[in-house]
Parts: sequence; structure tokens; C-alpha cells
Amino acid sequence: MDATEYLRGEHELLRWLFQAIRETPPEERNKRQALVDELSEQLVMHELLEEQVFYPALGHASDLVLHAMADHQHTRELLALVQSIEPACQRFSEQFEVLRRTTEEHLAEEERVLFAAARDLGRKEMLRLGELLEKRKRQLAESPEEKAVRHFNRTAWKVV
Ligand SMILES: [Fe+2]
Ligand SMILES: [Fe+2]
Repeated sequence: MDATEYLRGEHELLRWLFQAIRETPPEERNKRQALVDELSEQLVMHELLEEQVFYPALGHASDLVLHAMADHQHTRELLALVQSIEPACQRFSEQFEVLRRTTEEHLAEEERVLFAAARDLGRKEMLRLGELLEKRKRQLAESPEEKAVRHFNRTAWKVV
């Protein structure tokens, strides 16, 4: 699988999670919380993966990469805010919508602009990057240290 096919699959999972949260009524508070936890995990891992493996390969498109990095920073701030709000509140729904719209715009722009720029790297390099992404994802998902860091980030944000 090449790099953009791999990342597009992750985008689909993120979109699915956003939709699932949106469709879960406030009365199902625990389900909302579980979905938000899963979204947080997947979104943070996805952004790290792009920052560590995919973006560094796009040296020829560095302005686009800087813009994407700024988007990631913004989505992480919005995510932290959503994580700090009780899921059954009206304010949660409002802030969640801001996070969803902002992230979905980033995903669509990435697919339109950065994935197109990545095609300049050629098929062979795209396949090599795809393998690297899969390998790094397994490390991020399985490593106890990485899990601890993500958990720390989540709980640290909660008290802000
Ligand atoms: Fe991204
Ligand atoms: Fe992405």
C-alpha cells in the first residue's frame, strides 16, 4: 500500500469516529466519552505519524508542510478543549463541532494538496513510505512508553 492510500484509510476512520460522536445523543454520555477517547488516540497518533514519517519526505513542498503543521497544532488545541468538557453538556456539542469542522477541512485539504505533491516522489518511494508508516504506526500503538506519553498528554490537558 502506498503512503497516501494508507493515510487516506486513517482519514476515513477519523471521519467515521467524528460522525459516530455526532450521532450519539448527550443522554448516552458514556458512549460519547468512549468515542471521544478513541478519537483522541487515533487523531494524535495520525498526526504524529504524518509529522514523523510523511511530512519530512515532502521537502520539495515545505510551505505546504508548514501550513499542515500549523493545522495540526490547532486541532490538538481544539481537541484538548473538547477533552476537558463534560460530554453530556451543550458546550461539548458546540466545541466538538468546531473540532470536527476544523479537522475535516484539514483532512480534505491534505488529500487535495499534499497527497498530490507526494505523487511527485514516484511510485517506488510512495510504497517505501507506506511501509514505513505502517511500521511506525504499530510502534506507536504498541509501545508502553508511547502510550504513557499519550496518556500523560490527555490527563495533563484535562487539568488545564
Ligand atoms: Fe494532517
Ligand atoms: Fe492526515
